[in-house]
Amino acid sequence: MKTIAFISGKGGAGKTTLAANIAVALAQRKKHVALIDLDPQNAQRLHLGMDPGEIAGLVREGISPASLFDSPFGIKFIPFGRVSGNELEDFEAELKKNPRWVSDGIHSLAPAGFDVVILDTPPGPTPYLEQALMAADRAMVVVLADAASYATLPKIESLVEEFTAHRPEFEDINILINQMPINSKLGHQVRSALYANYSKKLVPVAVYKDVRVAQALAFERPVLQYKPGCKASLNIQSVTDWLIDSLED
Ligand SMILES: Nc1ncnc2c1ncn2[C@@H]1O[C@H](COP(=O)(O)OP(=O)(O)OP(=O)(O)O)[C@@H](O)[C@H]1O
Ligand SMILES: [Mg+2]
Repeated sequence: MKTIAFISGKGGAGKTTLAANIAVALAQRKKHVALIDLDPQNAQRLHLGMDPGEIAGLVREGISPASLFDSPFGIKFIPFGRVSGNELEDFEAELKKNPRWVSDGIHSLAPAGFDVVILDTPPGPTPYLEQALMAADRAMVVVLADAASYATLPKIESLVEEFTAHRPEFEDINILINQMPINSKLGHQVRSALYANYSKKLVPVAVYKDVRVAQALAFERPVLQYKPGCKASLNIQSVTDWLIDSLED
């Protein structure tokens, strides 16, 4: 079982979108996948077409085999859940007391025999990022091909270092470019700079900016299912093939 945390310094890079779609692409390749939403925005469910009222989520039920929900796209899912301000405060206080709350919950999923567990997180330094990094074997840093995203990378790297240095099982970060503009000189320059500085950490396929991604979200389904042949879907398929090879190395 490999746990991959989707993280980013800046908001809106595409963590939630790519976590959902890569989870679905892994399931299409017969991998047994659990997707866990560690973001109080509780938005992951929107990518999976799930009725929010139906599900309690991890704040109330914890991370355990009993809290897994069957999503319509072949993956098991635990949403964050819809909670009140007081519940959120109590929950975050509990996370601060026990930095391994998420890690312990993921270990309890072992009997379910997952190949991959994917964690979606809010942007920047939060208790959720710390929890995710304490549990992860890898971190997938989602960036835009722009100067602002590039500038946040050293900060993210130092947070990763801080929370994983004591865990030899942590493999590394990968950097995944999302919303790559078509025919943009700056986009290609940023990509070249990322390659020059991060070489093997950079996922060799970028996910291009594609209006179908936002349309799919409006229809509450993964873009892979909404438009399997569109550019972003094909990119996500290639990223997933690369990821499977790289996890097996
Ligand atoms: N490849 C893409 N092409 C076009 N639009 C995209 C692409 N990826 C994501 N988007 C759009 O960008 C917006 C932000 O995506 P998303 O919510 O996945 O980002 P996030 O990193 O999870 O944000 P947050 O930091 O708030 O959690 C959404 O409107 C989504 O539809
Ligand atoms: Mg998100």
